[in-house]
This record gives sequence, structure tokens and C-alpha cells, in this order.
Amino acid sequence: MAFSASHDPETNSEWTRYCQLNWFNDDLGIWLDISRMHLDHRKLGIIEEDFPKILDSMNSLENGSISNIDEQRQVGHYWLRNASIAPNDEIKNSINGQISTIKEFSQKILEGTIKSFNNKNFSDVVWIGIGGSSLGPSLLINALGNSKQKLDFHFLDNIDPEGMCRVLSRIEAKIDSTLFVVVSKSGSTPEPKITMEAVREYVLSKGCNWTKHAIAITMPDSKLDKLAKAEDWLATFELQDWVGGRTSITSSVGLLPASLLGLDINEFLKGASSMDQLTRNPSYKDNPAALLSTSWYLAGEGKGKRDMVVLPYKDRLEVFSRYLQQLVMESLGKKNNRQGQVVHQGLAVYGNKGSTDQHAYVQQLRDGVDNFFVTFIEILDDIGEFNFVNGLNSGDHLSGFYQGTRQALTESGRQSITITMDKLNPFTLGALIALFERAVGFYAEMINVNAYDQPGVEAGKAAAADVLKLQGRIENLLSDCKPRSLSQIDKEIGENSIESIFIILRHLIYNRPEYKTIGEFNNPNELKFLKCS
Ligand code: PA5
Repeated sequence: MAFSASHDPETNSEWTRYCQLNWFNDDLGIWLDISRMHLDHRKLGIIEEDFPKILDSMNSLENGSISNIDEQRQVGHYWLRNASIAPNDEIKNSINGQISTIKEFSQKILEGTIKSFNNKNFSDVVWIGIGGSSLGPSLLINALGNSKQKLDFHFLDNIDPEGMCRVLSRIEAKIDSTLFVVVSKSGSTPEPKITMEAVREYVLSKGCNWTKHAIAITMPDSKLDKLAKAEDWLATFELQDWVGGRTSITSSVGLLPASLLGLDINEFLKGASSMDQLTRNPSYKDNPAALLSTSWYLAGEGKGKRDMVVLPYKDRLEVFSRYLQQLVMESLGKKNNRQGQVVHQGLAVYGNKGSTDQHAYVQQLRDGVDNFFVTFIEILDDIGEFNFVNGLNSGDHLSGFYQGTRQALTESGRQSITITMDKLNPFTLGALIALFERAVGFYAEMINVNAYDQPGVEAGKAAAADVLKLQGRIENLLSDCKPRSLSQIDKEIGENSIESIFIILRHLIYNRPEYKTIGEFNNPNELKFLKCS
């Protein structure tokens, strides 16, 4: 490990463990402390034999192999922050070209060279996307937004009609100076598509222009790409086939919002690529991603038996817990291993922020069921200063609360990891994200699952489509205005799906006045449904 301090190897004091089990890199200003996990160097050695194979596999992924076997795709997010390692010149040039294009475009928006349809400077951005197409941008805006930013960001990452209305009402007065960024790698995910259509209607109903304000981020030739090109939207940025949603933060998906925020995107990419480089270290003891993933492995016995609770002691990193939840759980939560055997793997992640959560579920962490380990994130530079009468500022208190919680957990036998960063800026955020991406990649190798597909997400999309088809058939059937019981509807539809029919009709009753019931909900089998205007 890179951290060293004089210590007595004979003792097992907290300080000795801290010195022995703490990785530090001066250039990045990042510490990784695993001393409060129930492990030691002997246990960490569990990775030793397989580590060369893990690195070989990462190396082959970086060299362009089809590492996402199920989708027959390359996995190229590491090229995005260091195009020189991309497998061919075409990819290298496209990555570098895209970075320049995003910078130029953002510059023009920020300096007002590109204006709104009625010649105003843009003031707001509505970001339409879900999952990996939204969490990265939301993390960047929350973590690095600043008082000098020229654009306010709003996120539409769901199709809850009320949620959409709330966001749109916030920008109603500025709708003519708002940019709409529609992000969908596949270009056909229902949620962003439906949201985009609803927002477009809304924009047009306000007498504004859509195409001069709309930007697409998607794969070439996707439905969204074709639409944006056919309608001549303001801009389209490519999201490459070899970039997965949850690892897209260093692609156009993250670089565009970062750049529109006025951040130095090169610093962000440099932070990520520096961490990538450090995690190529062949000595697992000096490789932070190996230390992190092995700690996860040991804690959960390689089966995800312990959840990871993420507690950043920094409001700006509040979204990081959700960001990691997707990165880790969508990547590692798999039914089958790479040979197709059923393994039901995963690592559950939840969290919010400290010290806020100390007044919520930390009670259980300290005293209740011991089925987790905590990952604290500590930022040394407090930035804001609020002085108190006793001479301590609020940052001192926050640090005290972090240290107190860490210690209290240790005293009750609970495990924790701490990642400490000297400051939070584009460089360190890039490094932090890369550390977790690499750790997820290593862990996936250790448990032999494909970290880059998401069959469960695809299955959910297909199931939702089936429900909507069924709704169409029910609506069609009831359009004759005749009352029918659930079993009659089920029989006529012929799919043996009485429960779904009930749930669909109950929703329709509450939202469409033409749907009516005869009877009581507490006696659903006697209840009749009809559609009559
Ligand atoms: O990480 C992923 O792959 C997913 O969460 C996707 O980002 C999400 O399903 C949205 O997909 P798309 O960008 O194709 O609309």
C-alpha cells in the first residue's frame, strides 16, 4: 500500500491498522482506508492468485474485445478519457472530435452565439433521460454546479405526469429560453420518448419553437437520431454503441452538461484517466480498485451477503449514493454467471448523506441487524465557513460527526471503508467515479458475471409493453358501453390475466371519467366495469 507511517507491527491498534490498510495517492489527493473492515493482508491475499487473470481480462476489454458477450458489444468507456488507448484510429478520432465539438457548442451557447428561436440567450436546460442517461448528468450538476453557472438544469427522469408538470411549471416563464436535451442510447426507451413527446406538445402549445431548442444524445441511426435529423434539431451528439448507460458519464452524456455548466471537462477526464492508470497496477496491494473490490468480496463472502451503505459527508455528493446504486447493482445484480449457471449475484447499495442519515437509519446500522458495511466519503476542504461561538465551524462539526459515526460503528463491530478526497472538483470527481467503475469491473471478474448487460431492465421494458397492449385490448372491448365483470372481461380477452385486468381498470377508473363501476371495490368479483361517455 502506498500509505506508510511508523508503527509497531506487533500491535493491532487502530493506528497500526490504519497505516497498514490505507492506500494514498498524492497526485490525486485520495485516500482509501479499509482498516475498519474485518480483513487483514492475509485475507486480502484471496485475490492474489486470480489478480493477473483479472487484469488480463480488463486489458483485453480495454483492447477492444467483445467483453459484453450477451449483447455482442465492446466496452469502451475507458477509451473516452484516454483516446490513445482506443483500439483504432477511427475511434480515437471520433472521441477527440466529439470532445472538441461539445466544447465549441457549449461555448457558443454560453456566450450567446447560439440563441433561442426568439433571439434570447439560453437560461435553462431540461434534461430528459432515464437511468444511466440521467444519473450521471444529475450527479455532475449537483456535485459541481456553482454560483457562476449560466444555465439552470432541470431533470425529467420519469413519466409521472405530476412530476413532469412540477418541472415544467418551474420553467414556464422561461420556456422560450430553455434547451431540451433528450438522451437515450437506444433511442427507443419508452419513458424518455413519452416525456419528449409530452414536453414537445407543451412547448408548442406555448407558441415556442421545439427544433431550435432540442438536442439529442443517442446512437447513430436510432429512432431518436433519425427523428432529430429529419426534423433538423439544434444538435445531435453521438452516444457510441460501446458505451453503457451507467458508465456514460465520461461520454457526451456527462461531457455536455459538464461543459454547459462551464466546467473544465479535460480535468474531469484527466481525473478519471489518472485513476484508470493507477488501477492497472499489477500489485493488488497498491491497486485501489483491487483493494476496494476485495473488501466488498470479503465482506459479503463473494455472494453480496452485506449491503453497501454509501454515506458522503458532503451535500454536493448526495446524488452519488444513487449514482453508485445504479452502477453497482445494475452491473453486478445478475441471475447467471458468464457460463450461464444460475448464481443470483449482486451487491445492494443504498445511502444518502451524512450527517443527515445519522438521524435516520444509522441507528439500525449501529445497533440493529449487522448485514452491511458503510462506505464513508470525506472531503477535506470544507469550502464554506460558518463560525460558531465555541470557535468551531460547521465543517469541523461535520468532520466530528463523520469520525464519531465511524468510531461508533467500529465499537459495535460494524465494518466501514472511508474514501477521503482533499477537495471536490472535476478532477477528483472523475477519479472517484473511475475508482468505482474499475472496482465494479474487478468484482465482476471475481464473481464471473457480465457487468455490462442489463437483461433485467430489458425484461421490465418488455413486461410494461405487454401491460399497455393489454390495456388497449380492454379499452377496445369495453368501448361497446356494456357492463362486464372481471371474469367476463378475462374470458373475452382470453389471456388468463384477471389480476392485471383489475389493476388496469382500477387505474382507469381513477383517471378517465368515461370508465365507471357498478358495485363495490371490496367485492371485486361482483364488480362490473363499463366505459360510457
Ligand atoms: O445503464 C443502463 O444501461 C440503463 O440504465 C439505461 O441507461 C437506461 O435503461 C436508459 O436506456 P436508454 O439510454 O437506451 O434510453
